Amino acid sequence: MSRAHLLTALVLTGVVAGCRERRSPAAAPQGAQTPSTTPAADVSHGEAAIGSADTAPVDPQAPPRTAARLRRVRIEIRHATVTIAAGVSYDAWTFDGRVPGPAIRATVGDTIDFTLVNRAPMPHSMDFHAAEIAPDRVYVNVMPGDSLHYRFVARVAGAFLYHCGTAPVAMHIANGMYGAILVDPLRPRPPAREFVLVQSEFYTRKAGGADSNALALDWQKLLGLAPDYVTFNGRSAQYAAAPIVVRPREPLRLYVVNAGPNRISAFHVVGAIFDHVFLDGSAAASLSGVQTVDVPVGGGAIFEVRLAEPGSYPFVTHAFADATKGAVGVFRAKE
Ligand code: CU
Ligand code: CU
Repeated sequence: MSRAHLLTALVLTGVVAGCRERRSPAAAPQGAQTPSTTPAADVSHGEAAIGSADTAPVDPQAPPRTAARLRRVRIEIRHATVTIAAGVSYDAWTFDGRVPGPAIRATVGDTIDFTLVNRAPMPHSMDFHAAEIAPDRVYVNVMPGDSLHYRFVARVAGAFLYHCGTAPVAMHIANGMYGAILVDPLRPRPPAREFVLVQSEFYTRKAGGADSNALALDWQKLLGLAPDYVTFNGRSAQYAAAPIVVRPREPLRLYVVNAGPNRISAFHVVGAIFDHVFLDGSAAASLSGVQTVDVPVGGGAIFEVRLAEPGSYPFVTHAFADATKGAVGVFRAKE
């Protein structure tokens, strides 16, 4: 064994021994009485089983760039049962029957001509963070069976949140009423594979209805900031179960929007360093060569990254209680 190899072996042994020593009961899986001596997964950050999907994940691909000048957007509010984890359904309040609602894309200068139809049995509303507009004129309650129409010009590029603004807002967001609206700059960003990841939380209790196994919102858990599930695109660990396949070294662009309603996302891709991060998507607020960047609740960021070689690269919020609760996915880089 050469000196270099010997040194490497010693360092690796030390790292492994160090990791074992650092394990504490607090780091053990929920319910474990003593720390496990065997790792839960053979991949770093393996907070969820990889490749175990029995249902198709929510498509994470960003909608294509458009420059329509006039973008008509029509969204229907419906209360619907959605899947928030494998085998777990939830009585959600939705935009278009899905959580998150549909990703919307426009270009700076486009007029968004928006119609909201309320097919739910209670008032709801719509707040676009991409708009500059008087909330008391248009972010108003739409009664059951009624609709609302308004227009705004998308003046600022970025990755924005939209959500129901009906009080209590935390309840409407926690029940599923949010999505992403992407506004592209006039000069297109460089070509890349583009994905939208909306992070959010679910606070659950048994719904109580005899005819339903679906869970419903636990308001006290919400006020206590104690979610049961933290998800990307509304379903716990779905992109670990069904990894997102990309190619090594190809440019990736991730539009990460954090709906919350409570938890900051410390967004990180394991095994990669971001080439560029644009806070909220702003060209004036860019970082390069960074490892983890916070996406605040009610905010977004655009992450540009390339994966160096073939392999599985988890993406997480590095606030690891939340990754353990499902805010984990995997990019699988394959030639
Ligand atoms: Cu609502
Ligand atoms: Cu808001």
